[in-house]
Amino acid sequence: MCYAIPGKVTSIIDKIAKISYFGEEKQAINEIDDLKAGDYIYAQGGYIIKKLPEAEALSILAVWKETFFDLQEVDLRLSKLDLEEKGLDKKLTIILDKAADGAVLKDSELLYLLNLEKDSEIQLLYKFANFLRQKHLKNSCCVHGIIEFSNYCNQACAYCGISTHNKEVKRYRMSKEGIFAAADTAINQYGFQALVLQSGEDTHYSVDDLVEIVSTIKKRWPCLIFISCGEVGLVGLKRLYEAGARGLLMRFESSNLEVYKKLHPGRELKSRLAHLEEAYKLGYLIITGGLIGLPGQTKEDLLRDILLTRSLHTEMYTFGPFLPHPSTPLAKTPPPPTKDILKVLAVARLADPVNAKILVTTGFETLDPEARELGLMAGANSVMLNVTPEEYSKNYSIYPNRAHSNEGIQEQIETTLSLLRSIGRAPTDLGI
Ligand code: 5AD
Repeated sequence: MCYAIPGKVTSIIDKIAKISYFGEEKQAINEIDDLKAGDYIYAQGGYIIKKLPEAEALSILAVWKETFFDLQEVDLRLSKLDLEEKGLDKKLTIILDKAADGAVLKDSELLYLLNLEKDSEIQLLYKFANFLRQKHLKNSCCVHGIIEFSNYCNQACAYCGISTHNKEVKRYRMSKEGIFAAADTAINQYGFQALVLQSGEDTHYSVDDLVEIVSTIKKRWPCLIFISCGEVGLVGLKRLYEAGARGLLMRFESSNLEVYKKLHPGRELKSRLAHLEEAYKLGYLIITGGLIGLPGQTKEDLLRDILLTRSLHTEMYTFGPFLPHPSTPLAKTPPPPTKDILKVLAVARLADPVNAKILVTTGFETLDPEARELGLMAGANSVMLNVTPEEYSKNYSIYPNRAHSNEGIQEQIETTLSLLRSIGRAPTDLGI
């Protein structure tokens, strides 16, 4: 199973390699010493992950060649747009025309879009976001794997089902060998090239332990590793980068200071942001975003969340719904409607049209079984599959009844690939 298309290196200057994919040129950062022009490689998130023998690359490319162009055609057809439709609100068409011409939209215009209420107009917003996604990023869809290696957490976030509020959940920690085995399975059995290592804030694993986990996986198997273990400290970030981690997944959850403070006792938004800023400076790819539907949150807050995400040089936007967990103080707060999530995904696409990867989160899929397709047709272009061993993953209950929690990896891959195929997307990450 393969989640990337091999590319051919056409030139390397310093650490930047130019790579050709069926004639289309992309760039990626090279960290392989003996790489040279003419080599075939796999890249993820703008990093070259590994070389592969020419014969193997050519046989994979031969299979891909037809499918690749077929998928692009389907995608192009499904993302066509007609702004000439009759009866549309004038202001809306002016904003969308402006965005179609490549202009940067004003904050007030983005807010106008977030506030749309008429169904036909909301549908047009989604369609327009999908059009922009296709125009700038074509049909590639990132498929990353996530290993949740511990559900212990010493934080008391008011919404989170693995916070200290939850006295009922069965806590688990995977051993280092267990984590390596899960990574081995994901990479070598199922073909994942990018893995997120996630846990609650669990000081049982020291930075030394995390360094050992990251560096061992990197040494054994080529892959792109994102860490997602909460606030590991700025020194911790540096050490984990040196160990080989190249991405940080850390939501700032809410850019509204009041909301943040209320929901995260003992924590400061500025400390989260310091991590995200430092990580970017160190060279990490950033995955961040926030929760939608938190008590006290307004549409203006959501706009600020999107703008903050953009200002953090984010590689991948992760915005998902708040979902009430019975063992938390927010047990009785209702989740937001599907349309609010889709509007955020679509407006994020309009705010950052050219480069953004935008994730359809598992939280959104838990809220609405149609979420994945709806999100991918409203500006999103990334998904994450859970590759945590099932015995553990059922207890990573950040919210109840998580989507896919009783599906094996193979089943998740099959349903994902079949959806992607049906809407003309290629499960690839072709770099920048
Ligand atoms: N609903 C939705 N998302 C949640 N998270 C934690 N608890 C919930 C919940 N009840 C999300 C947080 C965190 C991520 C790992 O899980 O946004 O960053």
